[in-house]
Amino acid sequence: MLRTLVLALAAASVWAKPLLEKRWDDLEVKHAWVETPRGWTYQQPAPKDSRMEMRIGLKQDKIDQLITSLYEVSDPDHERYGQHLSKEQVEELVKPHPDSVDVVEEWLEHHGVQVADTHRSAGGDWIKLIVTVDQAERMLGTKYNVYQHDGTYDTVVRTLSYSLPSVLHEHIQVITPTTYFGTIKSMKATSFRETDLPTVDADDFQNELGSLATVPSSCGSTITPSCLRTLYNTSSYTPQATSTNKLGVSGYLNEYATHSDLRTFLQRFRSDASSANFSVLQINGGGDDQSDPGTEANLDIQYTEAISYPTPNIYYSTGGSPPFNSDSQTTSNTNEPYLNWLNYILNQTSIPQTFTTSYGDDEQTVPLDYATSVCNLFAQLGARGSSILFSSGDFGVGGGECTTNDGTNTVKFQPIFPASCPYVTSVGGTYKVNPEVAVDFSSGGFSNYFAQPTYQASAVSGFLSSLGSSYSGLYNSSGRGFPDVAAQGRNFQIVVDGSTGGVSGTSASSPTFAGIIALLNDYRIASGKAPLGFLNPWLYSTGVNGLNDITSGSNPGCNTNGFDATTGWDPVTGLGTPDFGKLQALV
Ligand SMILES: *[C@@H]1O[C@H](CO)[C@@H](O)[C@H](O)[C@H]1NC(C)=O
Ligand SMILES: *[C@@H]1O[C@H](CO)[C@@H](O)[C@H](O)[C@H]1NC(C)=O
Ligand SMILES: *[C@@H]1O[C@H](CO)[C@@H](O)[C@H](O)[C@H]1NC(C)=O
Ligand SMILES: *[C@@H]1O[C@H](CO)[C@@H](O)[C@H](O)[C@H]1NC(C)=O
Repeated sequence: MLRTLVLALAAASVWAKPLLEKRWDDLEVKHAWVETPRGWTYQQPAPKDSRMEMRIGLKQDKIDQLITSLYEVSDPDHERYGQHLSKEQVEELVKPHPDSVDVVEEWLEHHGVQVADTHRSAGGDWIKLIVTVDQAERMLGTKYNVYQHDGTYDTVVRTLSYSLPSVLHEHIQVITPTTYFGTIKSMKATSFRETDLPTVDADDFQNELGSLATVPSSCGSTITPSCLRTLYNTSSYTPQATSTNKLGVSGYLNEYATHSDLRTFLQRFRSDASSANFSVLQINGGGDDQSDPGTEANLDIQYTEAISYPTPNIYYSTGGSPPFNSDSQTTSNTNEPYLNWLNYILNQTSIPQTFTTSYGDDEQTVPLDYATSVCNLFAQLGARGSSILFSSGDFGVGGGECTTNDGTNTVKFQPIFPASCPYVTSVGGTYKVNPEVAVDFSSGGFSNYFAQPTYQASAVSGFLSSLGSSYSGLYNSSGRGFPDVAAQGRNFQIVVDGSTGGVSGTSASSPTFAGIIALLNDYRIASGKAPLGFLNPWLYSTGVNGLNDITSGSNPGCNTNGFDATTGWDPVTGLGTPDFGKLQALV
């Protein structure tokens, strides 16, 4: 009797095992490119025993509730307006379903991964583990290769496609590193040096701001803090809530902001603020080499400080993952810039109320599953009460030939991500004064990944009906339109390594707008109110009345004239540029 039972059990397990394991062999493609991403060249297969840090993003069980909460706490007409969520409340909404955890753990164990050796985000939605290339290839039914970036010579270990057992598709949102090739150095910093435009070495009207009747005409060719403080009407406001309110600048690309350049800059251009300093937070091996000032980093911090002083500013220097062992076989570099920064910042209990970031990629180069994960992480920051500003990009409606990477080489306008994420506020560029005009490099258009959010439906439909059938087929009229707003972006005077020079880009526009939002947050906090948090529902309803509509200029690209700046929202300058005095009256 006992004997037959044992036999029966043995027989059962003989049969059960293949059935159980079969589900892990039933692979279905999760994401695949039809061509090697442009700008990257295949070098060789990745060494099988090199190790890499893998992140598994699990489906967030209540993400719909998180998004609903985000919109409610950000809508000035909703009773929950300003009732931002705590870290714990957000984590509750991004937790994966217990079934997702169970089935993914079984799959990991099947592939020899010790669940105890994995690390979880506080919400449990991200699992981080170390795997060998060989293990990853078996798990994802793929081959990893080493690719080199043509411009920077960076090498990465990536794959052109990856698969998951079909039972896992409903549980896993994304796995990295796989098909997203963007790295710290290959991402586009949205700024460039000006060599042919005039330079000024001092703000000779910085002590007369309050008495100026109009913005000096010099601001039409060189932008200094005094230009912006006059133009955007901030010069008479003194921040009060400086022990609570903070402004964060997120930097990548091994770009360092230098304290000595900030001091020189402020002495020349805003001497009453020359005691200002910023703190630096180094994330994931991010550096802080004070002998190696970065144009982008100095631009960002010099203008956020000059506008928001004395609000504390923090520069976040995010690096790639540290090497895992000194084995010379370890070529893998798992830089996932936004994920590293976002996972870090979301794990803090107290976070700055305003952030600005000046990097972006063509949306089509970011896999949809990756872009969706990152965009949802920005939604979490918004729900926590932070305003997230991104430069819209410096490529008009698209840089270069604008052909699609889906194998058809069709010409399409090229939206920029993360500016195209509906949960960030994207900032385009202007130049000239009296009046301001859209600057031609200002990126804008319509996402092919993210649908048009309700908050902008009426503003965008006004633009689309005036556009009629122009450019039909080149852009996606049901996609999220960007940018949302704009600010000056040409020939900002900055100090790098002690000398003054000009720099342009929506990289200048985003810190400028962020500086003004930091002042508005200061005003709200000093009045006992919550910070503004995610801005867009407010901007497209009440806030628009405090913006200057930009109605001329355009953003050519893709061998077209691009879109025109028009009355009302347009995909060049959004709703317009800020008037702090008017915005203050509206918050
Ligand atoms: C989150 O922060 C806590 C406390 O500082 C730390 O112990 C933990 O390791 C962090 N978790 C992650 C995933 O970074
Ligand atoms: C500015 O901050 C940095 C880093 O915290 C510090 O090393 C430096 O001494 C500060 N500079 C001044 C002038 O306070
Ligand atoms: C247009 O945008 C919608 C909404 O985001 C999306 O579902 C659709 O796939 C996009 N179409 C193209 C051709 O990209
Ligand atoms: C600046 O703001 C004040 C309110 O503080 C407002 O009265 C004035 O019209 C604004 N100035 C300009 C030039 O828009």
